[in-house]
Amino acid sequence: MNSRQQLTGLDHYWLPFTPNRYFQEHPKILASARGAYYTTDDGRKLFDCLSGLWCCPLGHAHPKIVEAMTRQAQTLDYSPAFQFCNPITLSLADRVAAMAPAELTRVFFTNSGSEAVDTALKVAYGYHRLRGEASRMRFIGRERGYHGVGFGGMSVGGMVGNRKMFGPIMIPGVDHLPHTYNLSQMAFSKGQPTWGAHLADELERLVALHDASTIAAVIVEPMQGSSAVVVPPVGYLQKLREICTKHGILLIFDEVITGFGRLGENFGAQRFGVTPDIITFAKGVTNGIIPMGGIIVREDIYQAFMGATAPAHAIELFHGYTYSGHPMAAAVGHAALDILEGEGLIKRARELEPVLEGAMHALKGETGVVDIRNMGLAAAVDLDPIPGKPGLRGMKVFERGIEEGLLLRLAGDSIAVGPPFISTPDEITKMGEGLRRAIKHVMQQGNA
Ligand SMILES: Cc1ncc(COP(=O)(O)O)c(C=O)c1O
Repeated sequence: MNSRQQLTGLDHYWLPFTPNRYFQEHPKILASARGAYYTTDDGRKLFDCLSGLWCCPLGHAHPKIVEAMTRQAQTLDYSPAFQFCNPITLSLADRVAAMAPAELTRVFFTNSGSEAVDTALKVAYGYHRLRGEASRMRFIGRERGYHGVGFGGMSVGGMVGNRKMFGPIMIPGVDHLPHTYNLSQMAFSKGQPTWGAHLADELERLVALHDASTIAAVIVEPMQGSSAVVVPPVGYLQKLREICTKHGILLIFDEVITGFGRLGENFGAQRFGVTPDIITFAKGVTNGIIPMGGIIVREDIYQAFMGATAPAHAIELFHGYTYSGHPMAAAVGHAALDILEGEGLIKRARELEPVLEGAMHALKGETGVVDIRNMGLAAAVDLDPIPGKPGLRGMKVFERGIEEGLLLRLAGDSIAVGPPFISTPDEITKMGEGLRRAIKHVMQQGNA
């Protein structure tokens, strides 16, 4: 890639979730993208192993999306989000609701997953308060969970690196369920591990500790994505559902990664057969091309706000964003859903699942590979860390992946992949082989 000297902007740009000092010395610049490939500024073609950041399952530069953006920019490029709406946003809400489990009927749009999570937490609390249960102020997240970087999402999140600098400024009253990962019980599991449903019983312990009357909601990713594809044990989500229902606690599924087909169904809720009270979504709804997120809630949750004692001309929920339901994002959302449906890509994701499983689990036995997990079009490989230097081995494999023509996703010493739904079986197999060569190369270098 082009060197520091050849680039402008490095003196001003502060990159998110990136080691900036390392980047300054090793800048990585993507110049263009088409289909399942990126092209770097020095002309290298890289397979998009994580669909952008889990958000571009339909690939890049899809003509229908380009056309929808152009048309919408010429028709209605912005409409105020408050007091007004527009046809394209209204009809996108219909389509999103129709894809969700039947009980979830109302859609509130945001611009990102982080905003979707904070919106869901506020709606959950407001719902209880409006029903006279204002003592339900507590939220339960899960260790290793990722729910974005807003104050709410950061607080219910369970990835230590995202929390440690901000400990004293977390929202109060949050507790966490234990994570469900146990190497000795579930190493190299394919799909859902059979061990671990009992870990959901920890929710009963938290309810006993805090009392149900203080708990508003439990929020989990049905499959944890950012902490490198942690798949829920068989029966675990069902148990969480039962316990939440028993104690009047809302269950929120954060489906920012799992929504819109990643697990071979519209949402993880359908793949796992468990219906939450609120779903958060983002990423895939617009194929990542224009930022958009949102929540889908049960009708009675919405109605609790509408039944407020305030007069009908009063705002029921003092919450929203200038760009909520942005018409450009809504137009792209329609195009993305047209493509998902028209090209049968959710079914295709399901069909590709065994191909990805085969390609990734073929790495078992490689020196340095300590675990492999997968579900839907998502998988991860854990690498043996270099003693005393956590994350360095992963970084080396990620770097070497570029030499192999792969844009991999690094999560500490784990490498995650979530290829586009438009990938061919051959591309997925080649991705696995390229990753094998990258791991071999790095392991041969030893622990330096
Ligand atoms: C499950 C989950 N929730 C929330 C977020 C935050 O989304 P955003 O980065 O759009 O704010 C992410 C991002 O990866 C996510 O995976």
